[in-house]
Amino acid sequence: MSNTTTSAYLVGDLPAAADLATPMAIRVAATIGVADRISEGRRDVGALAQVTGTDPGALELLLNHLVAIGVLLRTECGYALTELGQGLRSDHPGGLRARFNLDGSGHSALGMIELLHTVRTGESAYKRHFGHSFYEKCAADPEFAHSFHMLMRGTIESEARDIAFGYDWGALTTIADVGGGDGTLLIELLRAHPTLRGTVIDMGAAVEAALENIHAAGLEERADAVEASFFEELPSHFGGCVLSSVLPDWPDADALRILRNCARAVAPRGKVLVLKPSEKSRTEHWTTAQALRLYALQGGRERSLEELESLVAESGMRLAEVTDIGRRSIVELAAAAGQSTE
Ligand SMILES: C[S@@+](CC[C@H](N)C(=O)[O-])C[C@H]1O[C@@H](n2cnc3c(N)ncnc32)[C@H](O)[C@@H]1O
Repeated sequence: MSNTTTSAYLVGDLPAAADLATPMAIRVAATIGVADRISEGRRDVGALAQVTGTDPGALELLLNHLVAIGVLLRTECGYALTELGQGLRSDHPGGLRARFNLDGSGHSALGMIELLHTVRTGESAYKRHFGHSFYEKCAADPEFAHSFHMLMRGTIESEARDIAFGYDWGALTTIADVGGGDGTLLIELLRAHPTLRGTVIDMGAAVEAALENIHAAGLEERADAVEASFFEELPSHFGGCVLSSVLPDWPDADALRILRNCARAVAPRGKVLVLKPSEKSRTEHWTTAQALRLYALQGGRERSLEELESLVAESGMRLAEVTDIGRRSIVELAAAAGQSTE
């Protein structure tokens, strides 16, 4: 074993890294909208407590800690946002407020409290904590699902343009964004490739949001959104299917069903494009944390290229080409030689 470290933390930072007070303080601040309220001009504890409906004494302790960790500043006029704190505003493009909002889908992160159960048993921490799976919650609670799609939008939005120009999507003619959420990626693909047509395939709240966003983008002529489960037969005759952040949510048997259904939807000559973290980002802090979260919260797996390739081989497809763009890879899958994907 090498004694070099790629850790983002030094040993001296372990108490800070393991302390739950800081992550919870940030999430609570996001939930009660501290950054938005400060931006509106409420800058002292009393005014902030009143407008957020919180206890002034407890809120002051929270604000003091946010100052100490660099989210807020204490100025002569009261509390102010640092650059870091600006990231917690609802209108910040990073979408962090939605990610951390404990009254929205951000509360799913609290399932990590049962990580010990996952590590001891291999079972879902999320299910242990909440008594149901993440996607059962999405199906039962449209508001929760909506806040999850806003969160996903915050992630894909910053990368969608590079993805759109990182592959010849136009050559596919028609594309299905399977598990495409609120349509953010599909809209960017269609903007970059003016002859491409596309369909978002997803469930409930995502389809509603995608239809609204397609309409707002003025793309109704070339895009639509339909409700269908990727575990069932999908609409077919697409030139390509894209799977962005979909396969890692699921264990191998489920991921294989999704791949087979996509293969059928593009048969016989279409392509399936899987968007995944690049191989070189696999040891980075963000990717390793995400792999742990996916496993603990959803029972899913962030697969290496090699692991993906062996799953793909069982689906009647082969790995044709890999294009790296930043921290993402676009992995092109095509029908395996001599095999029909139908
Ligand atoms: C992690 S999100 C990825 C969203 C989007 N592709 C992106 O990259 O931001 C997974 C998506 O799969 C959708 N999904 C979950 N179960 C599904 C099912 N059975 N059939 C179709 N879509 C499903 C979710 O609604 C969600 O939009």
